[in-house]
Amino acid sequence: MAKAPAGKKPVRKIKPEQLRSKAWFDNPANADMTALYIERTMNFGLSRDELQSGRPIIGIAQTGSDIAPCNRHHIELAHRVRDGIRERGGVPFEFPIHPIQETCKRPTASLDRNLQYLSLVEILYGYPLDGVVLTTGCDKTTPAQLMAAATVDIPAIALPGGPMLNGNFRGERTGSGTIVWKARQMMAAGEIDYKGFVDLVASSAPSAGHCNTMGTATTMNSIAEALGMTLPGAAAIPAPYRDRYEMAYLTGLRIVDMVWENLIPSKIMTREAFENAIVVNSAIGGSTNAPISVNAIAKHIGVPLDNEDWTAVGYDIPLLVNLQPAGEYLGEDYYRAGGVPAVVSELVAKGKIKPAITANGKTLAENCEGFFAEDRRVIKAYDEPMKAQSGFLNLRGNLFDSAIMKTSVITPEFRKRYLENPKDPMAFEGKAIVFDGPEDYHHRIDDPALAIDEHSILFIRGVGPIGYPGAAEVVNMRPPDYLIKKGVTALACVGDGRQSGTSGSPSILNASPEAATGGGLALLKTGDKVRIDLNKRSADILISDKELEERRAALKAAGGYKYPKSQTPWQEIQRKIVGELSEGMVLKPAVKYQKIHKK
Ligand code: FES
Ligand code: MG
Repeated sequence: MAKAPAGKKPVRKIKPEQLRSKAWFDNPANADMTALYIERTMNFGLSRDELQSGRPIIGIAQTGSDIAPCNRHHIELAHRVRDGIRERGGVPFEFPIHPIQETCKRPTASLDRNLQYLSLVEILYGYPLDGVVLTTGCDKTTPAQLMAAATVDIPAIALPGGPMLNGNFRGERTGSGTIVWKARQMMAAGEIDYKGFVDLVASSAPSAGHCNTMGTATTMNSIAEALGMTLPGAAAIPAPYRDRYEMAYLTGLRIVDMVWENLIPSKIMTREAFENAIVVNSAIGGSTNAPISVNAIAKHIGVPLDNEDWTAVGYDIPLLVNLQPAGEYLGEDYYRAGGVPAVVSELVAKGKIKPAITANGKTLAENCEGFFAEDRRVIKAYDEPMKAQSGFLNLRGNLFDSAIMKTSVITPEFRKRYLENPKDPMAFEGKAIVFDGPEDYHHRIDDPALAIDEHSILFIRGVGPIGYPGAAEVVNMRPPDYLIKKGVTALACVGDGRQSGTSGSPSILNASPEAATGGGLALLKTGDKVRIDLNKRSADILISDKELEERRAALKAAGGYKYPKSQTPWQEIQRKIVGELSEGMVLKPAVKYQKIHKK
């Protein structure tokens, strides 16, 4: 694959005396404070000259640590970032930010996205930094840092950490996350035991890096590239490849130029860039976590964007990338086939990419010129896609104002069971089975008294940003064992929580408003008939308006939908100020702080 260009020679738009860091390190009008800042910053061996000779100070936001293994190799990559910064005349300042690891964090890593955002905003605003390299990777670390860069609006570039090498088990590719769903079914069917289960799952993680499937990590890093916030080609390079270290170096070089060019996030993350991100997300078969976090980044930079845009801009874009969970391949294959630039060049040829400047000063389309899919098994031609329509449908009705569905992962078997009624195509009605949170679901899913059949619709509520602080990834519920044994591997699922990007289930999720804030899901009862119509994009409980209002009044009289108490201070604080999933689950009071580097 061609190497990413480091960018054009910078046009200096700002002079050394205009550097933001000068207010700290070289400010004769405030000599007392300058002396204090200088003496302490020099105490590990920096020279006065480095701090006072007009060199940009470049932050490296370090997300890697032993408790964030998906991003841990950023500790090594940062050496090459530093080399690049130094070579271009900058001074690197590496600092840790609140760590996030998707699978280990209780109750959910998503709770911490806004905490990492807050911690980074405080650092970027409060310290002498002229620009920053964001070390992205594991699911929430990418949006959290882009959100912070959006709020502060100093020059910023993302360095993705890259996926792990391909997993392999007995000659077959095993993809991180995705294999868990399969392994669970195999264990439920008695094909493997507990040890076999752990061995199978562990085979999917053979090296440093983030998930090697098209889960939320690969999705969000591909989106960072599509938004223009990385160098071209940066997202897909596997973590251990030498090219990844070269990309770290190039990124270090480039951020210094970006400071001189005053190329700030608000010039890159425009409405056009967000539309490009939505289009690319469809083409790669991106995670259902993407709309939440991309809408959040847009909110923080002040670009209007909502789930209707995801359907309007992205629904008709075909699925081009054949990666698990929607397809067969994994991260190494994605990279060798050309990664994001090869996908974008397919989209450019069909006029689907808007002009938008990227981190190297060129447009996304310019950057991807000359890139071609080098393996058609992995990256398909636009006219010969994996699926015709790969975007998300935004649904609404008396159950919620907005919830999304990834229709591209609907299997033929699922389609047959739910959607191929000749009298009523693309619509289905079914008996609702309602669970209140994941514990209730785990406890009762196999209970024969629920009489779940192959046309039932499973609902889970109380798992939105407030109900289950941070919103749980639990909407893709498995059918009861007795149905799995009959070959029914997926039932229709609906919920006010999220779903793992590594799951291939066509759930209706991110329902907003959530039950905890009085959304329609809180009014649903097991046994209710529910109608989902994909043509009309509607989802309704089939009861009269009068009964709906009676239920609403009864819920209100009972004090609203009940959810568990907070277990930590942050859970309590976030619950008071967090918005709905459709609104990006942002901290509502944070949105008004924009371009704060100037203030
Ligand atoms: Fe960290 Fe998937 S768990 S990238
Ligand atoms: Mg996840």
